[in-house]
Amino acid sequence: MDTLTALMTRRSIRAFTDQPVSDPQLRTLLSAAMQAPSAGDGRPWHFCVSTDRAQLDALAESVDAGNPMFKQAQAAILICLDEALEKFKGFAPQDCSCAAQNLQLAAHALGLGTVWIAVIGIPPRVTGCRKVFDVPESVVPFAIFPLGYPAQTLPAEDRYDEAKINWGRWKG
Ligand SMILES: Cc1cc2nc3c(=O)[nH]c(=O)nc-3n(C[C@H](O)[C@H](O)[C@H](O)COP(=O)(O)O)c2cc1C
Repeated sequence: MDTLTALMTRRSIRAFTDQPVSDPQLRTLLSAAMQAPSAGDGRPWHFCVSTDRAQLDALAESVDAGNPMFKQAQAAILICLDEALEKFKGFAPQDCSCAAQNLQLAAHALGLGTVWIAVIGIPPRVTGCRKVFDVPESVVPFAIFPLGYPAQTLPAEDRYDEAKINWGRWKG
């Protein structure tokens, strides 16, 4: 799948089949995430990866109370933000977001589905991720991505909106 097709057709997938996600696939996703640009090339991220059923089930309870997404997911990747690695103060959320979007697009290109589950700024989810993955206090759980083969098909949406564009100067 070429890059433009991937980014124009990606959708958030919240239902998964029971087909496993392989270790090489997970490594491709991690590699894509780590390939992201970051301010000053600081790469202020760490990743927690799981394919363990008990751990994935625990995420369903601890991160998104009762949400069946993690119960169906065959894997999950948590991106953690490490301010100590920032090259320029305050840029880590943008850096981690770049990694997150790379991960999502790579999953789609591999035929996998995922969805960005916000964690940072949502105390019960931060606590839940810390508990399930033993994340130390020195880093912050940023966002988590349940992974699997899609059990739902969502059409591509054309979101191009001319009204959001100011060619030249702001049109007011
Ligand atoms: C920063 C961010 C946080 C998000 N948090 C959640 C979330 O907590 N739970 C969820 O189900 N979807 C979450 N999403 C997914 C959005 O709901 C989804 O991207 C949006 O509805 C557009 O749909 P699409 O991804 O299929 O294009 C999040 C997306 C982003 C970018």
